[in-house]
Amino acid sequence: MTSVSKDTIRDVYATTARRYEMILNIYRALGVNLKKWRESAFERLPEIERPRILDVAVGTGTNLPYLIEKYPDYQEIVGIDYTPQMLARAKKRIAENSWRDVHTCLIDANGMSEHIKGKFDLVISTYALSIIPNSPIVLKEIRNLIEPRGYLMLLDCQKFTGLLSIFNPMAIRLSKVLGGNDETYSVPVSDLAAKMFNPISRRLLYSGMFYEDLYQGIIT
Ligand SMILES: C[S@@+](CC[C@H](N)C(=O)[O-])C[C@H]1O[C@@H](n2cnc3c(N)ncnc32)[C@H](O)[C@@H]1O
Repeated sequence: MTSVSKDTIRDVYATTARRYEMILNIYRALGVNLKKWRESAFERLPEIERPRILDVAVGTGTNLPYLIEKYPDYQEIVGIDYTPQMLARAKKRIAENSWRDVHTCLIDANGMSEHIKGKFDLVISTYALSIIPNSPIVLKEIRNLIEPRGYLMLLDCQKFTGLLSIFNPMAIRLSKVLGGNDETYSVPVSDLAAKMFNPISRRLLYSGMFYEDLYQGIIT
């Protein structure tokens, strides 16, 4: 168990929700182009017929337009998040766009498989596991919820390694407004995922501070 609590992170997002998209734009101005990496991650997703999709920590629903464009024949999209204020924005986005069969669930990603029925052909999580406490448990939860040959896409940040690690304290300070902290950033999410799911591709971005991973199938 981590000492950073899930409620601390939820409190951060409760106050940040209103400014979330603006904060992303500020990062972009600093050269951290989360939007561009998001777009290219979705472009690189495989073709899947009528997928049932789970977005873990859907936030304000930023991924939804990309998912719907990529998979117009989707069966269902479920977005879960633990912060009511973030999810309220996602719900508003869904209603404004009249998207069919897109559902949201206010639950903790730790333990989400108790609340969600059935399996998913595609699970995604973007810019989230690095700040969610106990992310190894979340990976196990994803394993419970994904079809045996289903796809998993993770897009997130991690600590710099090697010489660039001198920039880690600064990077973590800059991400504090989005719940960034040394403890959850230090979890090697990508390495752990590669032991549970078959890696298909891995791309490092921004000198290795961000990664985009695609997996297919559970390693049994
Ligand atoms: C940086 S935002 C990312 C949102 C979205 N995935 C995106 O790419 O814009 C991180 C999200 O993780 C959510 N979160 C944090 N802890 C969580 C938990 N334990 N379970 C589910 N969601 C959580 C926050 O509420 C927030 O919406």
